[in-house]
Amino acid sequence: MIAELTIEDLTPLTALEEQAQSGASAPQLLEALACQDTCVLGYWQGEQLQGYAIVARLPFEAELQAIGVHPTCRRSGAGGGLMDAVIATAEKWASERLLLEVRAGNNSAIRLYQRCGFHEDGRRKGYYPPLPSQAAAGREDALLMSRLL
Ligand SMILES: CC(C)(COP(=O)(O)OP(=O)(O)OC[C@H]1O[C@@H](n2cnc3c(N)ncnc32)[C@H](O)[C@@H]1OP(=O)(O)O)[C@@H](O)C(=O)NCCC(=O)NCCS
Repeated sequence: MIAELTIEDLTPLTALEEQAQSGASAPQLLEALACQDTCVLGYWQGEQLQGYAIVARLPFEAELQAIGVHPTCRRSGAGGGLMDAVIATAEKWASERLLLEVRAGNNSAIRLYQRCGFHEDGRRKGYYPPLPSQAAAGREDALLMSRLL
């Protein structure tokens, strides 16, 4: 089941992000839950929160700020289901486009976005600091992607 999360879901959301590692900090999660112009969607399996996505409403567009699925639940459609819900939310807002940024080396996320109709608009060179697990690799480019709604 996919449903909008509220401030009461902060504890399971923070615990999920520690496993999913989509890059959102605890203060960002709290702010997203509290902000009127941001929707946090949760993917539940029974009582277990297994995935989430954050989409923000901008003046004419919407932005996917984070998406993460628990490692034990990946490749079973949760990410795709969340992306469908993100797109439906932005369409409900009458946003013209949905935007996102992703690490150029994040192949699983890029494949997911391409499958959902996103295309690459450009790159920001060296935008992201290296992941802690790849500290020797240097900074990483950001891919800018969008999908018309
Ligand atoms: C990206 C992520 C959200 C995908 O979630 P998921 O639940 O595994 O996605 P789905 O099962 O719905 O997969 C949908 C499609 O995405 C693509 N995809 C997802 N994971 C992939 C992988 N590891 N390799 C290649 N393609 C992949 C495939 O096209 C897949 O369709 P298929 O399974 O029919 O081939 C998940 O891997 C994740 O949480 N990653 C860590 C956090 C992150 O990097 N977030 C993005 C930056 S904010």
